[in-house]
Amino acid sequence: MKITKAVIPAAGLGTRFLPATKAVPKEMLPIVDTPTLQYIIEEAANSGIEDILIITGRGKRAIEDHFDKSYELENELARAGKEELLPRLEYISSLANIHYVRQKQALGLGHAIHCAKSFVGQEPFAILLGDDVVRAEKPCLRQMIDVYDRYGASVLGVQEVPDADVSKYGIVDAEYIEENVHRVMDMVEKPSFIEAPSNIAVLGRYIITPEIFTILEKTKPGAGGEIQLTDALRELAKEQPMYCYTFEGKRYDVGSKIGFLKATVEYALAREDIGASFLEYLRKTVEDFGA
Ligand code: G1P
Repeated sequence: MKITKAVIPAAGLGTRFLPATKAVPKEMLPIVDTPTLQYIIEEAANSGIEDILIITGRGKRAIEDHFDKSYELENELARAGKEELLPRLEYISSLANIHYVRQKQALGLGHAIHCAKSFVGQEPFAILLGDDVVRAEKPCLRQMIDVYDRYGASVLGVQEVPDADVSKYGIVDAEYIEENVHRVMDMVEKPSFIEAPSNIAVLGRYIITPEIFTILEKTKPGAGGEIQLTDALRELAKEQPMYCYTFEGKRYDVGSKIGFLKATVEYALAREDIGASFLEYLRKTVEDFGA
């Protein structure tokens, strides 16, 4: 079955970025000049996704405004002779059909995904987490859809992480199938280093079969007292085959300050308009600080 639907949870409070996130949703914080959520939606759209459900919460209206048409702004720009900016704005509102639902209580990622049940229906679907931005030649989700097309089963996007970081992620116990593809035997949410079955971490990209919803209904709170998607996936892996795919590309944890800064620097360096002058500035600054 073709994957055309994606779910993006965006209900989190963004406490790690306070005070910036007091009035601005963390998904709207820009990397260079583009909100982090737009990178995620562009990845989905460039992977063939047509319908996206964003799970929002209170205080997230700026997200809806951003992906809507902005007649006032477009008229103002046209009047001010800045027509060259218009295609960039029109492009944003034409990326995909975007739908919204509110998660009324922050009960965990598993609970947020359960809010997508009627949107998803009986189809396999994608999940993209907003804290994981991936810079890749071929969009990360497209790579995963290609794997789904070959195996016809759930696929988790993974990469190896350093020992010190396993306790931040869902970690899989996996058996090698072929280059970059493992079968998921078991998984655990945020294990200690001692408990971790491997270093293979789920990094915010999933393709999941719709049977997950029946499981989520019964999933009890787990790590951190939250209803965890990982716990539901673990049950799903017992009922049907599940794979993980080591995607190509660099992933940034933009939910952390250091990850956000790394993404900002590297996306800026990769830009045609400002990359060269920013590199010059960085070289000089590093020298000055090193001295
Ligand atoms: C979530 C998931 C975790 C996954 C991680 C990827 O955790 O629960 O399994 O590895 O995203 O970023 P969070 O970062 O929301 O605590």
